[in-house]
Amino acid sequence: MSFDLIVKGGILPDGKTADIAIAGERIVAIEPGIDAEAGRIVDATGNLVAPPLVDPHFHMDATLSYGLPRINASGTLLEGIALWGELKPLLTHEAVKERALAYCDWAVSMGLLAIRSHVDVCDDRLLAVEALLEVKKEVAPYIDLQLVAFPQDGFYRSPNARENTIRALDMGLDIVGGIPHFERTMADGTRSVTELCGIAAERGLMVDMHCDETDDPNSRHIEQLAYEAQRLGLQGRVNGSHLTSMHSMDNYYVSKLLPLIAEAGVSACPNPLINIVIQGRHDTYPKRRGMTRVPEMLEAGIKVGFGQDCVLDPWYPLGTADMLDVAFMGLHVAQMTSPADMRRCFDMVTRTNAEIMGLDDYGLEVGNKASLVVLDAGNPVEAIRLRPERLCVVAKGKVVAERTQQKTRLSLPDRPNEVWRRHQAG
Ligand code: FE2
Repeated sequence: MSFDLIVKGGILPDGKTADIAIAGERIVAIEPGIDAEAGRIVDATGNLVAPPLVDPHFHMDATLSYGLPRINASGTLLEGIALWGELKPLLTHEAVKERALAYCDWAVSMGLLAIRSHVDVCDDRLLAVEALLEVKKEVAPYIDLQLVAFPQDGFYRSPNARENTIRALDMGLDIVGGIPHFERTMADGTRSVTELCGIAAERGLMVDMHCDETDDPNSRHIEQLAYEAQRLGLQGRVNGSHLTSMHSMDNYYVSKLLPLIAEAGVSACPNPLINIVIQGRHDTYPKRRGMTRVPEMLEAGIKVGFGQDCVLDPWYPLGTADMLDVAFMGLHVAQMTSPADMRRCFDMVTRTNAEIMGLDDYGLEVGNKASLVVLDAGNPVEAIRLRPERLCVVAKGKVVAERTQQKTRLSLPDRPNEVWRRHQAG
């Protein structure tokens, strides 16, 4: 028997050691000691072999634009939106596409092979929509890219946003977005949730809304989002992104809200790097940290992932396309430090994020798409601790990135000459 590719000796996320045999774009066997010919053999002995990292919340039209035309001095969401408004008229199709493709290269190098990106539809030219539709097609052999029609300046607040959202969906965007907390009034925000969910239901699309990205505890659009998901039968197809206002809400209200979100099958995607940086900017001390209530939502049976949101753009001056950075920050801010919780954080940036995106054939199982990442770590928690080298990335059956193991040479008296940060207890 002959395969196209065998990944040998890797440690799977569940701790078992197995070889993975691949034919074409599919995994055809996972078992120890596969002894067969293959077009290529990747030696993953002793390294973690995981399904690819997944980012369900990103802005690929804005990425890598940091400093254009200036930086965000206050660091707030509102200045970020204003700054993006200054940059928008200067955007060109070519520049948006070039930056997005450069970002996709980074993503591949980090084992990040599925991304949901919002695309601002408030520029009447819709050039970012066109550019990212082209990018989606070009990266399809290695990245699953979903595009959300996102009325950044407000579905009602921005003059043509309503019409442009429909045009963008007609052009082929996959998902309906929104930003209720940025509409002129709470009532408009509520109305926008209702209308946008209606559009999604009518077209058979998923919904992913920027929802309550504010420190205002009275921003409760998630309640309406859950209500509409329930009313329109959209269970399992609606995601609320950010939900930062929940950090500041009254506990009694949250005790009513969480079961409603769970019952409506609405998932949640906080964005820890961005939430910790942007929220609480109007506070003195104690200063709120702005991340939504992750352990409490998980406890209530709500599907919760972690998204990246921004890399080098008007809202965030850093970022690396590494979802393990995101998990690392999420773990800290949500204080998810028990062994089970840390392990869960790894699942959130892989399997749960894939579920939020509704990806088919994801995961290391026979019959699924042969996409995986080999990490220089012994297990998922160590991967979060080290955020290590991605030694090999396989996308749909093909090796798309490789890198060598990094060790530091030491020059210290009476000490080993090499240090390796991996750790074996005992
Ligand atoms: Fe966002």
